[in-house]
Amino acid sequence: MHAQGLALLNARSDIEFSIAKNLSPDVLKAGIRDADALILRLSPLSADAVEAAEHLKVVSRYGVGFDHVDVDALIRKGIPLAIVGDALSTSLAEHTLLLMLGVSRQVTVMDQATRAGNYGIRFQTLGHEIFDKTVLLVGLGKIGQEVATRCKAFGMNIIATGRQASQDAALRLGYEFVTDFRDALPRADFVSLHLPAKVDGSPLLGPDEFAAMKQGACVINTARGSLIDEAALYSALTEGTLRGAGLDVTQDEPPARDCPLLTLDNIVFTPHNSALTEETGARVSEICVRNALAGLDGELNPSNVVNGEIL
Ligand code: GLV
Repeated sequence: MHAQGLALLNARSDIEFSIAKNLSPDVLKAGIRDADALILRLSPLSADAVEAAEHLKVVSRYGVGFDHVDVDALIRKGIPLAIVGDALSTSLAEHTLLLMLGVSRQVTVMDQATRAGNYGIRFQTLGHEIFDKTVLLVGLGKIGQEVATRCKAFGMNIIATGRQASQDAALRLGYEFVTDFRDALPRADFVSLHLPAKVDGSPLLGPDEFAAMKQGACVINTARGSLIDEAALYSALTEGTLRGAGLDVTQDEPPARDCPLLTLDNIVFTPHNSALTEETGARVSEICVRNALAGLDGELNPSNVVNGEIL
């Protein structure tokens, strides 16, 4: 919890709170049994834990994704689940560009070579510009739109795909839109994911999608690891169409030490920290604490609630 959110909690003399780290499901279940409110980062919240929480009145996500939360169980108990809206979109969008540029200029390889005294790498390995390249944004929600603005500033061509809201945004903002993202795969130099995990946890990008991509394309994932079939990604990066990938998220977090993807130097990895900047930490902590307090005070803003049907 960032200091800004903590200060808000400390200012409420009627609230007692505790902060837990690295929660196992059992510890979380025991911890919320008597709680009135839960502020949740990425620990899974099961139906079992929700059912055992006798006083719980609100769950407030310290973030936006909620694929790790059993929303049906919350609905059954009439408990609202609040998220932080677009509070982390700026950090996510900057991080997406960081990964696109990092992959294009092989920044981690260059960094390691420079440290190792291999200065000659500057002549041996040429990077690529992102200028005038085409990026397919899978999802043009709040984050996708922030990414698009930055891609535009770099002179990229944008194709968007996604559900109705993404289509409306593309029309409003003047971006090309495709209904089926697969139709645009052969044209995209970058495919960047900005959508939630699928409900059944199945991947969006597998062998067929990688095979349909343009030779030399790069994949960027700051969304959820389950959206990518990692075995297929490995094949596409080693013997297939792809030139590189930028991954802030992976199937397992952290990835297993023997995960084959970790051996590839055409992937730039970050540890699911695209939203973990000072500025976003301050914003997100403040909004999620306000959501939790509003839930307790009966003043929750419905636009922050993802299961609004119970309000
Ligand atoms: C972080 O990954 C979030 O979904 O908030």
